[in-house]
Amino acid sequence: MGLKKEDAHVRRGFRSILSNPFIFDKFQKLLGLSRCKARYVSIMNPRSGMRILDIGCGTADILEHLPEGIDYHGYDLQPEYIDYASKKFRGRGQFYCQDAASLKVKGGSAFDIVMINDIVHHLNNDDAKRVFKIAFACLKDDGYLSTIDIIKIENQSWLARYIMSKDRGQNVRTKSEYEGLVGRDYSITEEYVLNNMYYVPYTCLVIKAGKKRVE
Ligand SMILES: C[S@@+](CC[C@H](N)C(=O)[O-])C[C@H]1O[C@@H](n2cnc3c(N)ncnc32)[C@H](O)[C@@H]1O
Repeated sequence: MGLKKEDAHVRRGFRSILSNPFIFDKFQKLLGLSRCKARYVSIMNPRSGMRILDIGCGTADILEHLPEGIDYHGYDLQPEYIDYASKKFRGRGQFYCQDAASLKVKGGSAFDIVMINDIVHHLNNDDAKRVFKIAFACLKDDGYLSTIDIIKIENQSWLARYIMSKDRGQNVRTKSEYEGLVGRDYSITEEYVLNNMYYVPYTCLVIKAGKKRVE
């Protein structure tokens, strides 16, 4: 997969309208992402008091599903989303505009959970590998990675393939391609392929993984 950075995350043409955070939020809800996030958070199992890093946080609407008392740090490339999240969730987290592939986490690392939600299909392979390595460096020894993304599966309907081809993220992968990017530093502890989570025929892969222990 040889996509360049700017081709992996399309912001031109009709997709540019999604740069508006209000429209992006409404669009996500229309696709059924609220229901999907509620299910995802139940798998992630975050608890009050945890320190959570969200790489590619968008408008940070995952906060609507997280318990109170989370020390939340969200990073995204789009300044409009970060401004919107900072206002909407004032006092519930810290929000920064940065490129995930060269992320410099502010205020120290040592997170209980690093979330990488629905962003990997916006990244080329080199950047995606970098992001999983950055996440690894930001995790406490007993912390865990939690990630969800859309995937290609065999015999997927033409409609699902067509909708994916119109996504701003141009790097939708298969399950094994995705696992390959997560890399050998992690031990996958839970993994789910979920269908019927959205109102469009998307298939998602959820992975929970801890740091691999060196004996
Ligand atoms: C489909 S949205 C998902 C947003 C959020 N994680 C969620 O689950 O609602 C993908 C997000 O990845 C962000 N993104 C794409 N490329 C990025 C990069 N290189 N660095 C940081 N964020 C990026 C986009 O701006 C967008 O907010």
